[in-house]
Amino acid sequence: QIVRLEDYAPSDYLIPRTGLTFRLGNERTIVVAELTIERRDGVDASVPLVLDGDGLELISLQIDGEELARSAYEASSQRLVIHEPPTRFTLTIETAIAPATNETLMGLYRSSGVYCTQCEAEGFRRITYFLDRPDILSVYTVRIEALKAQAPVLLSNGDPVERGDLDGARHFAVWHDPFPKPSYLFALVAGDLARVSDSFVTMSGRTIDLGIYVEHGKEKRAAYAMDALKRSMRWDEEVFGREYDLGIFNIVAVSDFNFGAMENKGLNIFNDKYILADRETATDFDFANIEAIVAHEYFHNWTGNRITCRDWFQLCLKEGLTVFRDHEFSADERERTVRRIADVKGLKAQQFPEDQGPLAHPVRPRRYREINNFYTATVYQKGGEIVRMLRTLIGPVQFRAAMDLYFERHDGQAVTIEDFLRVFEDAAQIDLSQFSLWYHQAGTPHVAVKTSYDARRRSFSVELEQSMPPTPSEQRKRLLHIPLAFGLVGADGKDANFTSVDGGTVSDGVIHLKRRRQVFRFNGVNQKPVLSINRGFSAPITITSNANAEDRQFLAQHDSDGFGRWQALNDSLLSGLIAAARGKKAPVTAVTTLLGNIAADESLQPAYRALMLSLPTDADIARELGDKVNPDAVFAAREDLLAAIANENAATFATLYQAVEGGTRFRPDAASAGKRALRNVLLDYLSKHENSPQRAATHLSAATNLTDRFAALSVLVHRFGDTDEARDALANYERQFGNDPLAMDKWFQVQATAPGFATIETVRTLMRHPHFAITNPNRVRALVFTFASANQTAFHAASGDGYRLLAETVLEVDPRNPQLAAKLATNFRSWRSVDAKRQALARKALMDIASRNGLSPDLRDIVERTLT
Ligand code: ARG
Ligand code: ZN
Repeated sequence: QIVRLEDYAPSDYLIPRTGLTFRLGNERTIVVAELTIERRDGVDASVPLVLDGDGLELISLQIDGEELARSAYEASSQRLVIHEPPTRFTLTIETAIAPATNETLMGLYRSSGVYCTQCEAEGFRRITYFLDRPDILSVYTVRIEALKAQAPVLLSNGDPVERGDLDGARHFAVWHDPFPKPSYLFALVAGDLARVSDSFVTMSGRTIDLGIYVEHGKEKRAAYAMDALKRSMRWDEEVFGREYDLGIFNIVAVSDFNFGAMENKGLNIFNDKYILADRETATDFDFANIEAIVAHEYFHNWTGNRITCRDWFQLCLKEGLTVFRDHEFSADERERTVRRIADVKGLKAQQFPEDQGPLAHPVRPRRYREINNFYTATVYQKGGEIVRMLRTLIGPVQFRAAMDLYFERHDGQAVTIEDFLRVFEDAAQIDLSQFSLWYHQAGTPHVAVKTSYDARRRSFSVELEQSMPPTPSEQRKRLLHIPLAFGLVGADGKDANFTSVDGGTVSDGVIHLKRRRQVFRFNGVNQKPVLSINRGFSAPITITSNANAEDRQFLAQHDSDGFGRWQALNDSLLSGLIAAARGKKAPVTAVTTLLGNIAADESLQPAYRALMLSLPTDADIARELGDKVNPDAVFAAREDLLAAIANENAATFATLYQAVEGGTRFRPDAASAGKRALRNVLLDYLSKHENSPQRAATHLSAATNLTDRFAALSVLVHRFGDTDEARDALANYERQFGNDPLAMDKWFQVQATAPGFATIETVRTLMRHPHFAITNPNRVRALVFTFASANQTAFHAASGDGYRLLAETVLEVDPRNPQLAAKLATNFRSWRSVDAKRQALARKALMDIASRNGLSPDLRDIVERTLT
């Protein structure tokens, strides 16, 4: 069944107040909903009230306290229809649900003995019959009853109002949330958890009670998340003028969760992977993620909760904007250029292949079969990039003014992307009709760049041509407004001046490309410059240009823009790798020398040097190749380049490896993490050069934190998997961390990413390991998702076994957890880009899934779209 944007109509009935009582029981939980329902003005009295349900068992039904006659309603597990209801009334619905057997992790379920909920997007209907759509805003009062011993902690949204004891060793708590909210923001948690408490004084002087709930014994591991929360609260006040609005803010970490976290009003629920952190169980990468996700969920309080989405087509309204906000937060808290490079790498790795394959969809889609399949990199990351472009278009001051207007105009409403854009048009007095196409057209735009310098006329011409390949169900594309930040880099590395520009709008260092082809002529340019374009990745596009290898290497060394340097270096590396993967030997000397210089350049931050030294991944190279990819050739090309760089710079790298401070006292801050990153990338190069596991084994035994340990383990398992050093390292790790599921995920991950087809068998074996659990999303992601997404040589093994392994796992997961199965299956999305033999095998694996009866709608939707 397809849902279409154009079919949106406001609901005939509203639910201004919602009262919920939960009598919690593992096998059977009773939910009593007391809903104040009103027919909307102008709606005919004959229009029935139709409530959504999903797998519910109806026990009783009353209107204004009177049992309803059997003829007055129709109930199924999927919906409740009430014929000719009064204009305004109280509907009391009693239903039963079974949390203990709920493996979908949607609605109310149990995770390690804790009751918790996940309602976005359409999980609330698994709890009670409701108008389960984001434009129905209601004020909730929630009463929770449970066994005191089993669930001493009882939480819901808003503020606590009452608690007390009941008969039979039970107790209760009542919560009230004064802010009207959509049902997807409802949350309940009940269990035996420890609370880490803190407080925050807001800009207006109110003291907020902060709590993070974790399993007993894990309190210390919540300290970093708590710190990140307080920094997020301060940042949102300072940068966006947003103050927290309730007296209490709680976070709960649970171990079974389908994604990162959820922004339920006043009660965020997190995958514990994104809360728990200490030096032994989290890498620097995890610390950065925790900070970003804590911030992301907190920021949703204004961008998502106070102002929410009219319907699910508008998902990017809250997600794109909130991603932009969390990226900016991390940039301010850490190192801006380094963060930007990391975010762009993520965008290219996740969003580009989505946008360039069968699952491509607009940031604001127009139709869906299963909304859960639209929590994508396109909606989130590309959605974030569009907001960034808006800021580029109008500048930071007007951007802030527009955001202020957004909060003022739409607080308490459920709105659309059109509403959002209108705020910018009104605040900055601009016309965004062409720009708005970024929301509506799928696909990665391409810009071809040609430059030429006319010494006699002292003019520099930049010819730009935009194009966009067709994407599923969108053949013809309209022209976009593409903002390209740029500099004309002179021989001294400084941006050259120009006196005027012909051919289009250029302002504040940004070229505005609006037509298919435009030639921008910069006058008064005294010397031939090198163009640095799309600085900071001002537009999420691909670029080809007539710049030659020398130009790129010049930029990689001299561009005053750090992002520009990384981009130029990355382009140089990729062009060499592409040529090598296609069997053309490419000259590499210039770039290997350059990397040595960068590594040793003390004027650059270690984190930045580490990024510059990290070669494009196999997947990056494959994406650049585009079609007929042979992953073995890609892998070989990358290894050859790595060896060439390592061999030429071995002495420099070895000195540097010694000099970069090892781990004395562990600190998770960005600067300390940067040093570890640099040292660990050098470890890989040096191990390659030395062709010995020795350095990594020493690195491992000296490691005082997981970042270093994981880096050493990766070198051992990936480069020297057949040695005793590697086997011992894995065995020791398991002995040391066997009781910690999150630390063990790293152990699964490192083995799942070992290059070569033998890893397929390793993964199969590990799926039978006692610490693996097919019902736990973190375990499945660590082992199987990682295998399929980050191990090109194994997943794409010429035998087709990698594809078969993924297909089998998808089918095993689907009956329990459709969302996880569908996510896993997206790893087939680039199947058309591999060589013909592999394509046939991938297609066969996909067809094998498609031919099964009883697939979940989530999985069927992904598989069918992937095949078309
Ligand atoms: N709103 C949550 C977040 O971005 C994610 C919810 C994901 N829901 C889903 N059905 N996939 O923070
Ligand atoms: Zn979000």
